[in-house]
Amino acid sequence: MGAIERVSGPLVVANGMLGSRMYDVVKVGDHGLIGEIIQLRGSKAIIQVYEDTTGLKPGEPVKSTGNPLSVELAPGILGNIYDGIQRPLEELRTKSGAFIGKGLEAFAVDRKKRWKFHLGKGIKSGAHVKQGEILGFVQETETIKHYIMVPEGVEGKIKSIKEGSFTVEDKIATIEGKGGKTTTVTMMQRRSVRKAGTYKQKFRADEMLITGQRVADTFFPVAKGGTAAIPGPFGSGKTVFQQSLAKFANSDIVIYVGCGERGNEMTEVLTEFPDILDPKTKRPLMERTILIANTSNMPVAAREASIYTGVTIAEYFRDMGYSVALMADSTSRWAEAMREISGRLEEMPGEEGYPAYLPKRLAEYYERGGRVEAHSGNVGSVTIIGAVSPPGGDLSEPVSQGTLRVVKTFWSLDASLASSRHFPSINWLNSYSLYLGDLNEWLLKNVGEEFVENRKEAMRILQREAELKDIVQLVGAEALPDTERVLLEIGRMLREDYLRQSAYDEIDAFTSLKKQDLMLSTIMHFAKSAQNAAKSGIDAGRITKMKVKDEISRMKEFKEAEAEEGIKKIRGRISSEFESLSKESNEEEKKEEKAEPAKQEKPKEGRKKG
Ligand SMILES: Nc1ncnc2c1ncn2[C@@H]1O[C@H](COP(=O)(O)OP(=O)(O)O)[C@@H](O)[C@H]1O
Ligand SMILES: [Mg+2]
Repeated sequence: MGAIERVSGPLVVANGMLGSRMYDVVKVGDHGLIGEIIQLRGSKAIIQVYEDTTGLKPGEPVKSTGNPLSVELAPGILGNIYDGIQRPLEELRTKSGAFIGKGLEAFAVDRKKRWKFHLGKGIKSGAHVKQGEILGFVQETETIKHYIMVPEGVEGKIKSIKEGSFTVEDKIATIEGKGGKTTTVTMMQRRSVRKAGTYKQKFRADEMLITGQRVADTFFPVAKGGTAAIPGPFGSGKTVFQQSLAKFANSDIVIYVGCGERGNEMTEVLTEFPDILDPKTKRPLMERTILIANTSNMPVAAREASIYTGVTIAEYFRDMGYSVALMADSTSRWAEAMREISGRLEEMPGEEGYPAYLPKRLAEYYERGGRVEAHSGNVGSVTIIGAVSPPGGDLSEPVSQGTLRVVKTFWSLDASLASSRHFPSINWLNSYSLYLGDLNEWLLKNVGEEFVENRKEAMRILQREAELKDIVQLVGAEALPDTERVLLEIGRMLREDYLRQSAYDEIDAFTSLKKQDLMLSTIMHFAKSAQNAAKSGIDAGRITKMKVKDEISRMKEFKEAEAEEGIKKIRGRISSEFESLSKESNEEEKKEEKAEPAKQEKPKEGRKKG
């Protein structure tokens, strides 16, 4: 047992620690605060403490537990709200009131509850099993089977195994390994959080994570097992967007890490989530969700750990064969926690005071995302979606840069869009997705070729619109030919009728891929007809005043079930309105020709031909 030598914020230096190992969890001081050894110098250990260290004094005892910082994984884990080191917040609160008491221990999963354990296929005494293989399952919630896997490092012959009703600490099996060493298996396992979990092989991420957010799915998709970043200044909509993803993305499991954001923002999540129904199953969303909350008023070291706690739990469900979406809001606060701890360690600072290893940590973290064949043989994925809050929205700062280097989808939130109430404020001109190539086949198969073509053409229009807007600033819209004025109008429609999507409207909050396809193809049908009309000499002003445009702008209001019929009708009306428009203009022209054949304007003729 060692003793405290000195305390510096969340760090404690302890002496007499010979024999302890890096990353061991230690109990610090008279109250036994939970900490982790992050540096060893001879017999001295530097410990980051996950609880408030005020009141700790030199001489108080420090005791190593001999175990690394780890999470408990067992049935009963879903639906929980944890702090950064996986202590259930609710239980901590009831034990100690609103403020978390010191050194409190609370189990991450219920020790008393009994679960019905069902045997897996081919699992019986005598069967040979390896780490990660599935022994059986517990129906944890109505939709999620919690598979019980052979723990890490265990391999051998099943000596005994039984079905029945067990607590997470009860023995369900014994496995005899090499040399006759037997291991008792329970339904609970522990995994160290700092180390990435292993798997058989990693696959290309070529299946789309459907988020129901049009700007993401249509233009900047993320794959299941992919990585995405949402950088944006304060108030630009990072949290709202991540919450929409948590609610609607078609992942089996959601892990939401609220990391270091202001307490009231997290409170919103904590009070809101338990009431949300899963739109698909109409069951509480929490039945497939785990929240990890570490607000800005909680100890900084626990914030640093919360990210790892989240990803380790995510990997565990991935190994069962589930697709997991992991949100971290905000990774900038995590990096700031790293910076604070590094500063106190008096490490050589890198850019803007962040430790030099920041880019490496970011890369290692996102590297834990992926679509893999697990040891169980099942294929699962962890999709990592991290919010970044660059001060002032300036993406040249180290956390944004380190993140951009590793993630493949980039949703760039924009203060000016947010202030003009264009939400989600994802800037379509500088966001990107590097998954488009890998997802192409999936899109062709699941949505169709027209959608793939339309999304390209729509993006081309949006880009051209931005260029034209610059020109209009200089010379005014009147100077543009009708075809370009029509393009400006189509750009506006794409932005307002398609990209804008309210997170608060019950129907608009989620759009299926099918409805996205319908909506986009309708706007593009209008676009083509409008371009043709303009080319044939119809005045741009008449096109922009067409009645059917109001209907197009209300496509988002169709319920999913009614979307196909409703939107197809609108398509029909687009065609008929354009027909009558061209008839009218033909007739007018004829009249004009009859009345004043000599006075016909030259430019109009030119346009007719072009
Ligand atoms: N998709 C959206 N639909 C409607 N309003 C939104 C949307 N996204 C953000 N907002 C508005 O912007 C505000 C700030 O969003 P928030 O996610 O808290 O920003 P950030 O996390 O980037 O600081 C929200 O309270 C809401 O009023
Ligand atoms: Mg936020």
